[in-house]
Amino acid sequence: MRIRLCLIPGDGIGPEIVNQAVKVLDKIAATYGHEVEYTEALLGGVAIDATGSPLPDETVEKCKAADAVLLGAVGGPKWDNIEKAIRPERGLLGIRKALGLFANLRPATLFPELAGASFLRPDITAKGLDVMVIRELTGGIYFGEPKGEDTTESGERRAFNTMVYRESEIERIARVGFETARRRGNRLTSVDKANVLDVSQLWREVVVEVAKDYPDVELDHMYVDNAAMQLVRDPSQFDVIVTGNLFGDILSDEAAAITGSLGMLPSASVGESGPGLYEPIHGSAPDIAGQDKANPLATILSVAMMLRHSLDLPDEAAAIEKAVQKTLQDGFRTGDIMEEGKRLLGCKAMGEAVLERMA
Ligand code: NAD
Ligand code: IPM
Ligand code: MN
Repeated sequence: MRIRLCLIPGDGIGPEIVNQAVKVLDKIAATYGHEVEYTEALLGGVAIDATGSPLPDETVEKCKAADAVLLGAVGGPKWDNIEKAIRPERGLLGIRKALGLFANLRPATLFPELAGASFLRPDITAKGLDVMVIRELTGGIYFGEPKGEDTTESGERRAFNTMVYRESEIERIARVGFETARRRGNRLTSVDKANVLDVSQLWREVVVEVAKDYPDVELDHMYVDNAAMQLVRDPSQFDVIVTGNLFGDILSDEAAAITGSLGMLPSASVGESGPGLYEPIHGSAPDIAGQDKANPLATILSVAMMLRHSLDLPDEAAAIEKAVQKTLQDGFRTGDIMEEGKRLLGCKAMGEAVLERMA
């Protein structure tokens, strides 16, 4: 198969982790007889530096012409005080919107080898952890209007964002939730704040309506504050979580921490059609950028998600996941998941360790 892949390394540790993921994909291609045609595009801080915009038009065109997009991360202190309309993060939001990627799948699974790296007690991790967080990605408070800043009559500065969801936006993400639950444990938890927010009230009503098409899936609802607590108290109670943009952002970082590290969690962002975008859920980690310390596994596992979701190559995806697991079994760790008695590797050596374990 011919795979047209658009690479967006981005900022901070982005280029380091994407390099390791590309090595792994090249190995898959060589083993299974695929051909990967790479293009590279600018996004975020590096795009601002080169073109003045965090999302150059050329980047959108390159992504649209690809079968899939692999992204590192964007942002960093260098651009933190820049005019907010052109912050690096705006580029990321812009590309998600431009590609119509409304569904963000963030699977939090605990590799048994990393139980000791989890922040949870052993009796809790012993029950296993396999939660799929489905985050709505192109709506909610991230995109709602009006937003901005103005000055009140008394001369005080004021800033505001709007959390807004249309029925159609809730319905389509709810369907992704139910369909995903069907392929897993048949349980869906919709997370909202319906006891306070009008937008969450509508969210809940629409989810209940969509549920009628999925009588085989067990649906429950949870307020987001309770969900945050339940995730650390007993994550084994969850199968699939579906939630809005902001709640999903927060809960998925929390879910990552209980799997051992933010550096372990991959993601897939998909729309109705067109290329999917694959990226680790973490950011550009400026504190360790350029030091060969980053964990590349979330990005490598994002390649596996890409092979499965966008390219329909489940065997290739499984080969990567197995090699990652074998690497952990063999005791190799980056700093973020390091434990006593294990072997500490840098980003590049970790990429190579995975590569060596691919059949
Ligand atoms: P972050 O995820 O970059 O880092 C949080 C902490 O986790 C840091 O201590 C970092 O060193 C560690 N970490 C993250 N990824 C790691 C990895 N692969 N291996 C080892 N350790 C890892 O979040 P932050 O510090 O809040 O944000 C830094 C910058 O990244 C900001 O500009 C932010 O806007 C941006 N950001 C981008 C994305 C993205 O591109 N998808 C996501 C989150 C944050
Ligand atoms: C993520 C990030 C982004 C988000 C930021 C950098 C725009 O935190 O991908 O989780 O909030 O969606
Ligand atoms: Mn985030």
